[in-house]
Amino acid sequence: MTENLAPLYTQHLAALRERADKALAAGGFDRLLIAAGRPLNKFLDDQDFPFVSNPHFRHWLPLTDAPGSWIVYAPGARPRLVFVQPRDYWHVVPAAPSGDWVEHFDIQVVRSAADAIAALPKDGRNAVIGPACPSIEGVEANNPQPVMDYLHWHRSYKTAYELALMREANRIGTRAHRAAEAAFRSGESEFGIHMAYLAAARQIDAELPYASIVGLNEHGAVLHYSHFDRQPPTAHRSFLIDAGASHAGYASDITRSYAATGADEFQALIESMDGAQRELASKVRAGQSYPELHIHAHHLVAGVLREHGIIRMGAEAAVAGGVTSAFFPHGLGHPIGLAVHDVAGFQESERGGSIPRPEGHPYLRMTRVLEPGMVVTIEPGLYFVDMLLEELRANPAAKDVDWARVDALRPYGGIRIEDDVVCTEGEPENLTRDAFAIL
Ligand code: GLY
Ligand code: MN
Ligand code: MN
Repeated sequence: MTENLAPLYTQHLAALRERADKALAAGGFDRLLIAAGRPLNKFLDDQDFPFVSNPHFRHWLPLTDAPGSWIVYAPGARPRLVFVQPRDYWHVVPAAPSGDWVEHFDIQVVRSAADAIAALPKDGRNAVIGPACPSIEGVEANNPQPVMDYLHWHRSYKTAYELALMREANRIGTRAHRAAEAAFRSGESEFGIHMAYLAAARQIDAELPYASIVGLNEHGAVLHYSHFDRQPPTAHRSFLIDAGASHAGYASDITRSYAATGADEFQALIESMDGAQRELASKVRAGQSYPELHIHAHHLVAGVLREHGIIRMGAEAAVAGGVTSAFFPHGLGHPIGLAVHDVAGFQESERGGSIPRPEGHPYLRMTRVLEPGMVVTIEPGLYFVDMLLEELRANPAAKDVDWARVDALRPYGGIRIEDDVVCTEGEPENLTRDAFAIL
């Protein structure tokens, strides 16, 4: 990390306090109680699923492994952390809190989740934010809508501290992407590539912000391919990897597509998609409607399909006739931050509401107008998905598709290129390309 986080954290906390004050006022509450949460139990088993903390908790603190702990905040008072440090010789006990943030909190160490709940204030009107599960028995999570709406809306605007953490999440992810590309080029299996990715990221699967997609050849056409073939295929033609990394509770979400040496036509298609992706990323600017950018992406994909002789009709007809949707069947991207698919992508205002998706685009995850501080992914794709191509054959536009070209490209699966991009007052900041550039 190059940035000095201490002053940035101080500003971040001041911003969160101000937001919390307004959110509480909006809902008519006196206090915010935020649960870190507890690991979920496996059914009929004494094992837990990996612990993932409440994003509201890690918004306040870079503490990702503090199950059972709580933050207590009342306007005008110092925030309090009720920190669970069990007496336990079976597990590694969470270390005593340390770091620049510690001086900003009153910290009360307790020995169990039940003791933490007992230490919470029960008087007054509390907005209790946490998962509604028995793990926080004794304090009912009410997650009041006006409070959540206000907090989620403002979570869209990242502080300088959050952007510093997201830069680092991108540096870790791009370092691991480089290792994955090298493993692909050396002929590894999908499983082997995944292992190379984890080793370079120095993160285990459970720490990643989402399950990595590591697809060779045709597997690149399975949008959420999460199977890892243990054996390498007979030939390595192409490689699509969608994998991110975590840093202090923040996510990166990165996709790259590669052609094997000699796969020149597919390489040329990747380069055209890369050009389209860069153009889209350059439009992450204040005032840009994200759904309009998604529609623009369809026009660019139509241009790429035509340039490479896959379709013969014009871009307008390809978009209007649903042809581009057969090749690009997902949304352009989504907000990202504490969650890989971050909250408030559809929210109309700080008081809630929802902005509908454009008709015919059911998978778009972001319908807002971009504003400074927002971070979104830009991830156009072009795939050869058997099921969607079959449907396209039944479309009148099928006569303007070069099916021989389609069949020649099917063995390469597909292409997606995905960056995490910050909307600023001026030029966009591309966290992912900047991180690749320093490697
Ligand atoms: N990796 C999930 C996504 O790109 O949205
Ligand atoms: Mn994404
Ligand atoms: Mn992704």
